[in-house]
Amino acid sequence: MYRTGFFAGVSLAVMAGVVTYFSGTSISGAADVDATKVYMTHCKTCHGENGHPTDLGTGLGAREFANAEWQAKTTDEQIIKQINNGTPEKMMPFKEKLTQDEIKALVSVIRSFGKK
Ligand code: HEC
Repeated sequence: MYRTGFFAGVSLAVMAGVVTYFSGTSISGAADVDATKVYMTHCKTCHGENGHPTDLGTGLGAREFANAEWQAKTTDEQIIKQINNGTPEKMMPFKEKLTQDEIKALVSVIRSFGKK
């Protein structure tokens, strides 16, 4: 009896800890996303530091993100979808590498290239 109570108490404490831990990270997670850093880590190789495609990106068919016409006709949803799913043989999908918060934050990085 004593042991069962002891273990129940411990697992309750662990559960409470886990809940606090996860709610804490998800709240700060959204605010803490360093979108520029994510971009520099995962996207720069092809799309370049300023959204101007690298030789590798150009070779694969990546476009200029600073292009005003492209910015105007592309919706945030399309950008999110592209990052999630990629394009076979051109751009790898990121849905398993990045969180949805990170992917949404990348939209503003891509938009910022259009404002230069
Ligand atoms: C291996 C090179 C490569 C990497 C890395 C890469 N991309 Fe791409 N991306 C491409 C290519 C090539 C295209 C054009 C695909 C097409 O024509 O369908 C593209 C297309 C896109 C588009 C859509 C542009 C359009 O045609 O409307 C967006 C948005 C985009 N990439 C964002 C990103 C972001 C954000 C990252 C980082 C998380 C990233 N890409 C990483 C190669 C890459």
